Amino acid sequence: MSAVVIVGAQWGDEGKGKVIDFLAQQADMVVRHQGGNNAGHTVVVHDQEFKLHLVPSGILYPNTRCVIANGVVIDPGVLLDELAYLQERGVDVSRLTISSKAHVVMPYHTQLDALNENHRGDRKLGTTLRGIGPAYMDKAARVGIRVADLLYPAELRDRLSRALEEKNRVLTRAYGAKPFSLEELYDRFLAYGQALKPYVADTSIIINEAINRGDRVLFEGAQGTMLDIDHGTYPYVTSSHPSAGGAAIGAGIGPTKIDRVYGVAKAYTTRVGDGPFPTELHDNIGDLIRERGHEYGTTTGRPRRVGWLDAVVLRHSVRINGLSGLALTRLDVLDGLPELKIATAYRDQEMTLPEFPDTAFVLRSVSPVYEVMPGWDTPIGQTRSLRDLPVNAQRYIERIEELVGVPIVLISVGRERASTIVRDELF
Ligand code: IMP
Repeated sequence: MSAVVIVGAQWGDEGKGKVIDFLAQQADMVVRHQGGNNAGHTVVVHDQEFKLHLVPSGILYPNTRCVIANGVVIDPGVLLDELAYLQERGVDVSRLTISSKAHVVMPYHTQLDALNENHRGDRKLGTTLRGIGPAYMDKAARVGIRVADLLYPAELRDRLSRALEEKNRVLTRAYGAKPFSLEELYDRFLAYGQALKPYVADTSIIINEAINRGDRVLFEGAQGTMLDIDHGTYPYVTSSHPSAGGAAIGAGIGPTKIDRVYGVAKAYTTRVGDGPFPTELHDNIGDLIRERGHEYGTTTGRPRRVGWLDAVVLRHSVRINGLSGLALTRLDVLDGLPELKIATAYRDQEMTLPEFPDTAFVLRSVSPVYEVMPGWDTPIGQTRSLRDLPVNAQRYIERIEELVGVPIVLISVGRERASTIVRDELF
């Protein structure tokens, strides 16, 4: 197996960081292909915790090459801080390559993200306020600044002055905010360009060469399928394609190069930000899962909304991504709960909906149809094989497989790399 894509199967924060880190042990290259520093992975290595937002977690292995590909939007200040943080902790970052075609998150994007959210009032999206949406908007509007532009002073000045003409007009006239100074931004981003220059290349060439050589290449998705701009709960979504197809465009490889796609799902569901969430819990069980699972955002620290596992969401994810299997994380968080619920369908008045609705307004009115299963009372954190799990935990896993139609290939029962039950070779 040469090219494997890992995607979030729910609304992000599924524990992809741990699964990717686990697989990165066998990978020759790890590629980020969408999103930006709205994402956040926490990886625990020998009791040392690493928080990463842009750099692929493969960087924590001494021989793995890492790529931030064209589909990512990069805030250069954040990336340089992250590189310094890794270097201070003894990590060699010279194995990282950044796409010349990746778009740059500019300070006006971050400011516009906040102003837009403020203006939406009770219709706000709950974005991470990292400027991600406005940066992708500029990419689509063809007024974005790409990493390559930072390396060419005349090009940078030209593109920046065109962009500022429009941004300053919006900032001052629509929002009464202060304009940005061309000279100040030009100097700052030229300096960022010089600092990033050793890492910049056309990464599509590098990734394709690696695949063609038979290297094991892991594509690390950020966010989750339900936040995909086309296939998620629009408009409560991010502005990129966290689903598997996004890997092809975002890394510059043909879809035929992808061998397998695995989805990562928590044993329950969480969501940060606004938008529909049919299995959301508003009771003590929700609070208990939030506290036990430390369900607070890596990037923003926001408490995550918590709910039961939703098989309707997972079936949608299996279809959109063509999943080969699922990795189920945080099963240990459910230890000691007397019963567990799984949504198997939704009900809208008298109608039963087996598939995930395609509009936010239908979603708002549905209620989940639950199947109730008995829980287990022994802690499972030390378990390393499926047959050593309590019978009810095994039944929970089997039932999920039946409901979503793909095998569960990996089960995570704790934060450390070792707290993992592997059922299948993933590469
Ligand atoms: P944005 O990506 O900052 O524009 O935010 C859009 C939506 O995606 C909001 O609901 C965010 O909370 C959500 N989002 C963005 N990144 C992540 C992530 O890494 N995990 C979970 N939710 C995210």
